[in-house]
Amino acid sequence: MCGIFGYLNYLVEKDRRYIVDTLLAGLSRLEYRGYDSAGIAIDGDGENTALVYREVGKVAALRKKIADDKGLDMDKTFVSHTSFAHTRWATHGQPSERNSHPHRSDPKNEFLVVHNGIITNYKELRTVLEKKGYVFESDTDTECIAKLAKYLFDSQKGSKALTFTALTKAVIKELEGAFALILKSSQFPNEIIATRRGSPLLIGVKTAKKLKVDFVDVEFGMADAQNADKLAEESENLLTPADPTHPKIHRSQSRAFLSEDGMPQPIEYFLASDPSAIVEHTKRVLYLEDDDIAHIDEGDLHIHRLRRDDGISAIRSIQTLEMEIAEIMKGSFDHFMQKEIYEQPESVVNTMRGRVNFDTHTVNLGGLKSYLSTIRRCRRIVFVACGTSFHSCIATRAIFEELTEIPVSVELASDFLDRRTPIFRDDVCVFVSQSGETADTILALRYCLERGALCLGVTNTVGSSISRETHCGVHLNAGPEIGVASTKAYTSQFIALVMMALQLSEDRISMAARRKLIIDELHELPRYIKETLALDKELQTLARDVLHKEKSLLIMGRGAQHATCLEGALKIKEISYMHSEGILAGELKHGPLALIDENMPVILIMTRDSLYPKVQSALQQVTARKGAPIIICNTEDTSLASSTRAIRVPSTVDALQGIITVIPLQLLSYHLAVLNGVDVDFPRNLAKSVTVE
Ligand code: F6R
Repeated sequence: MCGIFGYLNYLVEKDRRYIVDTLLAGLSRLEYRGYDSAGIAIDGDGENTALVYREVGKVAALRKKIADDKGLDMDKTFVSHTSFAHTRWATHGQPSERNSHPHRSDPKNEFLVVHNGIITNYKELRTVLEKKGYVFESDTDTECIAKLAKYLFDSQKGSKALTFTALTKAVIKELEGAFALILKSSQFPNEIIATRRGSPLLIGVKTAKKLKVDFVDVEFGMADAQNADKLAEESENLLTPADPTHPKIHRSQSRAFLSEDGMPQPIEYFLASDPSAIVEHTKRVLYLEDDDIAHIDEGDLHIHRLRRDDGISAIRSIQTLEMEIAEIMKGSFDHFMQKEIYEQPESVVNTMRGRVNFDTHTVNLGGLKSYLSTIRRCRRIVFVACGTSFHSCIATRAIFEELTEIPVSVELASDFLDRRTPIFRDDVCVFVSQSGETADTILALRYCLERGALCLGVTNTVGSSISRETHCGVHLNAGPEIGVASTKAYTSQFIALVMMALQLSEDRISMAARRKLIIDELHELPRYIKETLALDKELQTLARDVLHKEKSLLIMGRGAQHATCLEGALKIKEISYMHSEGILAGELKHGPLALIDENMPVILIMTRDSLYPKVQSALQQVTARKGAPIIICNTEDTSLASSTRAIRVPSTVDALQGIITVIPLQLLSYHLAVLNGVDVDFPRNLAKSVTVE
C-alpha cells in the first residue's frame, strides 16, 4: 500500500550513483507494497535544487528512465544529501506519471513530498488552495500536502521561528486520514522531515561513532488553522507575514542523537515504510509513533510531538532488527511466494519454538501469561481480521470453542466496523494480521480499545501498529513474508491460534488427552508439510494438464476444511486471476449445486475426520450431476474409485489437518499463476500491506 524510502548522508561522501542505487534498492524491497508507479527526488546540481524522476510501472521502469537521462551526472559527489523515493499502489487517481510521487508544491520543486496512506479531507484542502491560486497537476490526495506546505510557508515567511518542524506541524494539523510522509524543501536544504499518523514509518541509523541518546520531551507549536473549514476563514491571517515575535510561536526541541563529544559526526539515515528496506544498511532502527515529527538537520535527529498535551513521551528507543538479509532474498527460488511456501516446515517450527513443550505437553505464550485468567473469564472471544488472516481464524474457531468452551465469533474487520458491532468490557478481541498494519483491522482494534475490551494481537511484524497498540499478544516469528499472496503467515497464524487455545484450556483436566494428541501432532507437522511439498510436481502437472485453461474452479469441504476451501480459492483468484470459490459442502444443496455439470472443475477436500461421511454424500451429490471432482484426501484412504483423481496428503488430528490440506492449494495457485504468465509476487491491483480503508 505504497512504500516510502528516504536516504540521507551527512559528512559522508557519496556520489549520485550510490544515492540513486540506494534509493532504487530500497524501493525494490518495498515494491510488494505497491507497484503501479515509482519515483525519486534527489538533490540537483545547483544549490538548493531538486531533481524528480517518476515513471509508471515497477521500479525497473524508473531505473531505466534515470539511466536514459544522459545529462544526469552520476559521478557528482555530495558530502551531505537528502533524498527520497516512493512506490505507489493507486488509491486516488489512476496509475500514471502525473499521479506518481513525489508530488511538488510548484514547478521549482520548493516542497516535495512522498506519502503512504489516504488524506480524507483532501478535496476540501484542494478547494481552499485552488482558491488561493494553486494549480494542481495530479488527481491524488497527496499533492495537497506539498501545496499546503508552500502556502503555509509563504504565509509565515520572514519569521525566524519558522522551522521545518513548525511548518510540518502546521501542515499535519490540517490533515485528516492516514499518512506516513517524508518532506524535503529547497527552503530547508539538508533537512528532512518524516512524520506519520496511522501508516508505518521507521528510521534506520548508521554511524561509525558511538551515539549518545539525549531525548527531551518537548513541544513546538504554530497555532494556526485547526481544521480545513477554519483554514478557509483564517487564511487571510496566514497570508499576513508573521511577526517574528508572534506570541503563539514558541520553540524547543529534542535532540535525539549526538556524538559523545558533541561534535558533528558522519552519519547516514534510512527512512522506510518497513524494515526490509533498511536491514541491509543497518539493524539499528527507531519506530515512529503517530503524530511524531522526526526532523533531521545537520545530521542530528530530533523527535517532536504534534501536541504538547497528548501525554505521549517523545522518547523513542533504538531497537535492533532481528531480521536477517537472507530472509528478504529469493535465494534459489523463482518467486518469494514459492520460497515462502517451501519455508513452511521451518516457519511453523519457528512459531512454536520455545513455546510448546513436547515432553510436558504444555504451551507457554509469554505475551499472554499475565492475561490468562482474564481471558478465561471473558464473556466471548471475538476474532477480527481480513483476507487470509480471517481464514486462519475461521480455521481455528472450532478447536478454540472445543478446548476453551468460550463462545467465539469471527469477524471481517471492515464488516465489523460497518455494523458498529456491540463490544463490551468483558469481551476479549483478538486481532490477527500478518503485517500488523492493515487499516481495517487497526481501526477495529481502536474501536474495541475505546469500548474497554481486552485486545490481543497476533502478528508477524514486531513493532507494527497492531503489536504496539494491543494489550498483549503473540508474534508469529514466521520471518518476513514478501510475496503478496500470504502463505507461511497463514500456517503460522493457524498454529499460533491453536497454541493460544491449548494454553487457555490448560486448567481443564477433561481436555488433557485432547491437548496431548494435538501437541504430539504439532511435533510431527514439519514432517507432514515436507511430505506434502513433495507433491509439487504432481500439482504442477494438474495445473498444466487439467486446470489452467479453465475459467472457474470450485473448492468444497466442510468442518475444519471449510477455511481451507476459502483460503485455497482466495489464493487461486488473487494470483492466477482464475475465478474460484470456496464452498461449504453442507451448503451445496442450497444453491451451489446448480453450477455442477460435467464441465465445472471441482476440488473436494475429503479428509478422514468426523465429517467424512457427510463429505462423502457431497461427493455423491456432485457425481450424480456428472461432476468429476479432484479429491484431496488422506494418504491411506482406500475408498475412492480408481478413476478418481486424488491428491493424497498425510493425515493428522482434525484440528491441524487444515495446515496440511492448504499446501496443495498454495502450490496449485502458484503453478496456475506461472502458467498464466502472472508476475506471481506482484499480482495486479493488489498490495501486501493494505494500510488504507
Ligand atoms: C491474501 C492476503 C490478504 C491479507 C489481508 C490481511 O493472500 O495476503 O488477504 O491476508 O490483506 O493482511 P494482514 O494479515 O497483513 O492484516
